[in-house]
Order: sequence, then C-alpha cells, then structure tokens
Amino acid sequence: MNLISNQISCLKGEALCPGDKSISQRILILGSLLNSNLIIDGFLDANDPNSTLNALNKIGASILKKDGKIILFKREKNFLQPEEDLDLGNSGTGARLILGLVSGLGLNTRLVGDSSLSNRPMLRVVNPLKDMGVDIETNDGKLPVKTSGGEINNFFEYKMPVASAQVKSCLILAALSSNKEIKIFEPKKTRDHTERMIEYFGGDIKYGDSKNPGEIKLNKTKLKSRNVYSIVGDFSSASFIIVAALIAPKSNVIIRNVGLNKTRNGLIKVLLSMGASLKITNKKTKCNEEVGDILVTSSKLNSVIVPEKIIPNIIDEIPILSIAASFAEGKTIIKNASELKIKESDRLHAISDGLLKLKINHELFYDGLSIEGHDRQIDTNEIIDSYDDHRIAMSFLVAGIRSKKGITVKDCKNIETSFPNFIEIMNNLGMSIDEKN
Ligand code: S3P
Repeated sequence: MNLISNQISCLKGEALCPGDKSISQRILILGSLLNSNLIIDGFLDANDPNSTLNALNKIGASILKKDGKIILFKREKNFLQPEEDLDLGNSGTGARLILGLVSGLGLNTRLVGDSSLSNRPMLRVVNPLKDMGVDIETNDGKLPVKTSGGEINNFFEYKMPVASAQVKSCLILAALSSNKEIKIFEPKKTRDHTERMIEYFGGDIKYGDSKNPGEIKLNKTKLKSRNVYSIVGDFSSASFIIVAALIAPKSNVIIRNVGLNKTRNGLIKVLLSMGASLKITNKKTKCNEEVGDILVTSSKLNSVIVPEKIIPNIIDEIPILSIAASFAEGKTIIKNASELKIKESDRLHAISDGLLKLKINHELFYDGLSIEGHDRQIDTNEIIDSYDDHRIAMSFLVAGIRSKKGITVKDCKNIETSFPNFIEIMNNLGMSIDEKN
C-alpha cells in the first residue's frame, strides 16, 4: 500500500494516544505467568502485540480479545510444548521476550518471523540464555531459533554489552519464569517497563545505588494477582503527532493519555531544547507508569546536538526526530545510534535515503546522521521507500505537511504493526493522507 501525504494549512483538535506496544506485549507475557484472571484495557490491537498473543496461546495461555479488552484466563493446565512454530511476525520485542519466557519454562519451541525479523540478530539474547543453561540453537545467529529445555542457573549475572531493553527483559523473564534469581548490569538506562510491571504485581526487584548504576536484581519472586491492568498510551506513536503539530502551521493539538515514562520520553527533552512549544498536563500514575496529556502548538525549531546518554531513550523516535531536524534552523547531529541499523530496517540508511530524495542536505555516519535543517517547504515529488518499516513510513508521511507537491511513501502496510489508526487520527486532526496507486 502506497500513501501520499499533502501540504496542509493547520492541524487542530484532540487525539487519544493508542496503547503502548512494549507494555501491551509485556502484560500478555507477565499476565500469562500470573495464572489468574486478568482484564487488560488500553491494549494495542496491532500486528506486533497480536503475534505475541497468538504465540502465548500456542503454549497454552488462555487469552481472549472481547469488546476492545483483553481477558486473560487462569490456565487449567501447565504451559504446553507447542505443536506448531511460534510466529512472531515483524516483532523483535515479541521474539526476544517470548524466547526468554519459553527458555525459563523449559519448553521445546521453534520461533520464526517475517523476512525483516528473520534478518535481525538473535545472538544478543541467545548467548546469555545459553550461559544461563538453556539448550538453544539458531540459524547462523538469526531465526528460526529452537529451544529444547535445559536447566537454568540460579544467581546468573550478566553484564550487557549493548543497551537493550529487549535483552534485559528476555533475561529477566527467563529468570522469573524458572523461579530463579538474576542480576543484570545495563550500560545505559533503557526502557524499564518490565521492571515496573514486576513491581506492580508485587515482585521483588531491586536497583543498584549510585555506586552501582545500571544494576538490576530480581530476587526469587511470587507475583500477586490483580483484577485489571490499564495500558497507557504509546509515547512513540504520540511522537508522530507531536512533530506533525510542531511543523504544521497554526496548529494546536492535545494528545491524551500519553505514556510519560522517563526511559521513553527523551524526545520531549530534545524537542524542548530545539524550541518546541510542548506542555504536559493531567500527569498521573497508572499501573506504575506515568501518563499525561501533551499540548503541542506550531513552533520555529532550532537544531540540536543530541546527547549520547539520551539515545536509548529516543531510540524509536530518531526517524521522526530527523524530520523535525529537517525543518529546524541549523545542523542537528545524532551520533552513537548504530543500534538503528538493526531495527525493522537499517533505519540510518532508510532515513538518509528518504532525506536524499527530499533534497535535504545531510551526512550519514556509521552511527548516526547530521542534518542541515531550514524552515522550508519541500519541492520534489520523488517516491520515498519505507523499507517496509512502520516508523520510516510514518515519519516521511509527517514530512508531507511541508511539501508543495505531496510526499508519496511506498509500502506503508507495516504501519499496522504499531499504529493501525495512524491515518484516521492524523486526518481527523487535519492531515491529508490518502492511498496512492
Ligand atoms: C523495545 C525495545 C527497543 C525498541 C523496540 C521495543 C522493547 O529495542 O527499539 O521498538 O519493547 O523492549 P532494544 O531494546 O533492542 O533497543
């Protein structure tokens, strides 16, 4: 599906932020381990969380979607050896977290995914899982990955070579589901939804002090059941609306129910330092996650040198930040972001290719980009390749707001992996996105 996004004269109104993808996947997994009845609201009904849901049902979880809610039933039996492959589709989080779970449960499984996921590195989780005692095989470091049980060590300690919430969560889930203890050291603080969720269900998880920053310790833990879990909105999805409102003329947009977890919302800090007009209201805590509304108005932006420390907290927002930077006065520099090369696409390359087609001067580094921004209108009509990556597609569609001839983006179907009502929400606010043959 190709889409075209046209210039607009203003962006106005209210949008309800769709459910958080990372949290939607985690609550299905953790909820299945609780083994009690649980109602989940705010679930992101999109391809990625749905592949995690289907994989869990194949190993004996009992999860039902009903009237926009998720009902997780107490299992009658133990988890099962699945008869079929567990297909995680496009979802890196699904694949890596489910690997942790099935490893801890000692199940014999075979995990597969779509062509993008089958090209993504799995050794970052497979190697530490092997060290933990899991019997696990890969296809040259990639999917399909086969788990065949094994005995999980107690008191496993792991120093993560990369800052990755997926790796951290995979190992925590392997320990939790095998009822073992684990200590992990992360080089930089990454999203902490797994830890917060374990805390919310009464689990015993501790963090290092200032002398041991980055240390996370899960003690032997029995989680307590609760009746309901409410998922906050996805900051990463909100970021497309935020940047759209910043670069559109005469805009005034409120986004409701946006997750504001500090390990996720680094983009707010970056955009504020660029001169963005953003205001947070109605801040509260829901199920151990911060949430609030964000008011955004059109802003004249300036360039920024993005600090290294914040990169893991804006990792999924770098494509849309690159669009904001294209319309900000001056040279924006993003470095230390080589992790972007192994996302749903090589995002550094995909961003650079799109910017080149829009005739935006920039430089591509092995670990980032520099972008020369201006307060401008785009004047080309070359077709942008999404590289089958949802965040690349949505980012360049947002850039269409500032185009004289519209921006066409190829292969946008993958938007459904994370933000199925993107077009509806954006067009309701005043964007002009249509299908293009
Ligand atoms: C995610 C972690 C991030 C992020 C991904 C979702 C998660 O990946 O890019 O979209 O839910 O844990 P890494 O932890 O591998 O950086």
